[in-house]
Amino acid sequence: MPVTKHETFALQSENDIVQARQQVRKWAIAIGLGLVDQTKIVTAASELARNTVIYGGGGEIRLEELVEERRRGLRLVFEDKGPGIADLQLALKDGYTSGSGMGLGLGGAKRLSNEFDIVSEPGKGTRIMITRWK
Ligand SMILES: Nc1ncnc2c1ncn2[C@@H]1O[C@H](COP(=O)(O)OP(=O)(O)OP(=O)(O)O)[C@@H](O)[C@H]1O
Ligand SMILES: [Mg+2]
Repeated sequence: MPVTKHETFALQSENDIVQARQQVRKWAIAIGLGLVDQTKIVTAASELARNTVIYGGGGEIRLEELVEERRRGLRLVFEDKGPGIADLQLALKDGYTSGSGMGLGLGGAKRLSNEFDIVSEPGKGTRIMITRWK
């Protein structure tokens, strides 16, 4: 699937999360996502970016513009070299948190995306990919 444009931004601070949200909104508009889909992917991005900073100890977000013959999409890849997630099924469960959150971020991000993929290895880090198609 052709990636026609991509860019990577650091996720280390609260300000980086704000910047990432703004970039995702900008790219979503450029790709032609409607207002509802823009908000869905921005909300998902916000949750995943916050997890990257809080639990992953910081990392990065890569934005990819996807162009197929019949559709366009926005893919976001969040990557950190933090502690990883030992039990993915548990982490995805609504209400589970190892910190002081609500435990709704991962499940929410999955529901707001058309595609969702996590690769995480304890001690190595976490990589989460989401895609929203137009
Ligand atoms: N990048 C990550 N690295 C390590 N652990 C993670 C990462 N992202 C999520 N987790 C683990 O998965 C759990 C669930 O994440 P989720 O975003 O659903 O909830 P939360 O961040 O705890 O609360 P909320 O997002 O509702 O404020 C986290 O509490 C944490 O243990
Ligand atoms: Mg969270």
